[in-house]
Amino acid sequence: MGTMNGLTVTECRRCEALCESRSQIVNGGGPADAKLLFVGEAPGANEDEQGEPFVGRSGDVLDETLRDVGLDRDDVRITNCVRCRPPENRDPHEQELANCRSYLETEIERVDPELVVTLGKVPGEHLLERDVAVTSEAGDVADVTVDGSPQPVMLCVHPAATLYDPSQEETFRSTLEQAAEFTDDESGQRRLGDF
Ligand code: URA
Repeated sequence: MGTMNGLTVTECRRCEALCESRSQIVNGGGPADAKLLFVGEAPGANEDEQGEPFVGRSGDVLDETLRDVGLDRDDVRITNCVRCRPPENRDPHEQELANCRSYLETEIERVDPELVVTLGKVPGEHLLERDVAVTSEAGDVADVTVDGSPQPVMLCVHPAATLYDPSQEETFRSTLEQAAEFTDDESGQRRLGDF
């Protein structure tokens, strides 16, 4: 029903509707040992065409804001809750999120990032398994259990929110700043712990 080689899903027919709407499976991109792993909702038209997550307008906002806070897109890993484009960019259905969850969990386990950052309501609610008010909770960190281990997850608004509502720009930027600081602190603690 689905084959994953390392971090790459090469074949999958778990969702009938998405098999129809996708032109390809969009896997995560970026270093396999990244300290930061961003998780979006699902590929859109540009991602479906190019086979990479966050390459359209949302991706431009993400790239620019990463640069603003001193991070480079090439240093972070970016993936989605669902790897195939839903028809007309609708939200993925619960069953589709559930079908794709094992791929996301495997990616989190193998990358073993210091922090996962969820981009938008759908990935926040999917990983925390509760309702999330993403604007007011942006920057909050919760431990989520993935394969028996605690994984820190920071909630963040979706980059596209800044395109519709400019007041979200500051929320988005300051959350990414907190994410950068979190990984700096974690690495420092780990280095100190080695002595
Ligand atoms: N929005 C998402 O949630 N994911 C993408 O890959 C692109 C836009």
